[in-house]
Amino acid sequence: MSYERRCASDVNTRLAGSEFARVLRSGDVVLLSGSLGAGKTTFVQGVAKGLGVVERVTSPTFTVVREHACHNDLGITTLHHCDVYRVQTLDEVLDLALGELVEESGVALVEWGELAASIFGRDVLRVGFLVDENDVRTIRVEDVAEPGRLEQLRAWSES
Ligand SMILES: Nc1ncnc2c1ncn2[C@@H]1O[C@H](COP(=O)(O)OP(=O)(O)OP(=O)(O)O)[C@@H](O)[C@H]1O
Ligand SMILES: [Mg+2]
Repeated sequence: MSYERRCASDVNTRLAGSEFARVLRSGDVVLLSGSLGAGKTTFVQGVAKGLGVVERVTSPTFTVVREHACHNDLGITTLHHCDVYRVQTLDEVLDLALGELVEESGVALVEWGELAASIFGRDVLRVGFLVDENDVRTIRVEDVAEPGRLEQLRAWSES
């Protein structure tokens, strides 16, 4: 099943992110894909708000990964925010060892994640960002198989 939301402004994109935080569980790796400027970082800013990150979340394009402490009752203590747009080789992504990092009650959101999808395998959430001719974004959570998450995602798509 796939679930989507239309976001007509950056405020909407942020809200979609903060409400998506409720769907997350510790250990999740989320691959975000969409063209330059499609709204990936904006969405992560919303997720960060939903996870109770206090500090400002900015694009990790040049640092590859930033870590933010979270304050929530979801059992998620760290948000790992990555951007693999500029990495040269998949080894660089492997070196980040995101799969291991998230095991300790973290989640990872990876911008341009599709570029490194082969590293993460099938056990990821995939979120796509589409921009239409009026600049409206459609944010789509793709091919979710886990029955336990479908109800939450349906609620997410309908709010
Ligand atoms: N739904 C929306 N409607 C209009 N503008 C939006 C929407 N969502 C985000 N934006 C704006 O689009 C611009 C680019 O957003 P953002 O930096 O989040 O994109 P990105 O996908 O992370 O880009 P990059 O590929 O460079 O990492 C920002 O100015 C942001 O405010
Ligand atoms: Mg970005």
